[in-house]
Amino acid sequence: MGDIVFSGMRPTGRLHLGHMAGALSNWVLFQENHECYYSIVDWHALMSDYADPSKMRGNAREVLLDWLAVGLDPQKCSIFVQSHVKEHIELHLALSMIAPLGWLERCPTYKEQILNLRNKDLSTYGFLGYPVLMASDILVYKASKVPVGEDQTAHLELARELARRFNNFYGDVFPEPATMLTHNPKIPGTDGRKMSKSYGNSLDIADEIPALDKKIRTMVTDPARERRTDPGEPEKCPVWDLQKFFNHDEEQMNEIAAGCRGAAIGCIDCKKMLMAHVSEHMTPVRERRKRYEGRDSELNDILAEGAKRARETAGRTMSEVYDALSMPK
Ligand code: TRP
Repeated sequence: MGDIVFSGMRPTGRLHLGHMAGALSNWVLFQENHECYYSIVDWHALMSDYADPSKMRGNAREVLLDWLAVGLDPQKCSIFVQSHVKEHIELHLALSMIAPLGWLERCPTYKEQILNLRNKDLSTYGFLGYPVLMASDILVYKASKVPVGEDQTAHLELARELARRFNNFYGDVFPEPATMLTHNPKIPGTDGRKMSKSYGNSLDIADEIPALDKKIRTMVTDPARERRTDPGEPEKCPVWDLQKFFNHDEEQMNEIAAGCRGAAIGCIDCKKMLMAHVSEHMTPVRERRKRYEGRDSELNDILAEGAKRARETAGRTMSEVYDALSMPK
């Protein structure tokens, strides 16, 4: 058997093209030749949103639809909700026994979040353990590859350290998971900043083609190119970043770059060409999403089947863990 892959996303709502071009495109590739577990990590969401979890269920559904839309295939990978597989929590408790407070308090994401999310009280026991739960997610499947973005590298390092510490105390149970940095093509939002739901600048996976069209039409361009007759600089234009991801017509790309620099084409022309490529890429995505929307029982079956497969693997690991810990049989 080859490598086992695990990754997860918190159910924070609809995903955007940044998620699609970054994380998810890698996940879709991995499912072709790896045993993959992809989890909607609701316990992790609760760690920061414990005061109002009312949106979580709906958000989890949107995430599932977006995953299916971009081509995650429940025949090829196990898709499930973290809280449906209790083994995550069991391992979390076991690892919390050996997780030194210093490691957790020193974790850069912990310090940062406490400072940044001032409107939430994150000085909780649960939130301090965020990376311990994350390590449990990974180790309970003995995953050796974990595709994540740069922001998760400290957590992955902690997962390796916890695996090592466990193995030192109780014997070899866990392989050390490797970080697979997902290459993140630059996908700016409509205002040119990093695409993010909280900025209100995102192009969503769930958007209809006309909605994407409208957002792209009003998207900011090279700010120095004020008039149609001004020359522009593609490398300073967020629309160009999208062209680089969606437009694979090399000849047209050269024409656009030259046309922009020489003011031979306008931003509207460039955006029209981009939109044709976005439409070509997103139409099948949109169609797949539509096919699943509202089919609750089919979606529940996908999650039930995913959780069942996940439980089989996780259950095997946990019986090794209980043995290693000399827990009474
Ligand atoms: N912390 C990750 C994030 O916010 C989500 C996550 C939870 C995860 N458990 C994981 C990612 C395990 C990879 C592996 O993006």
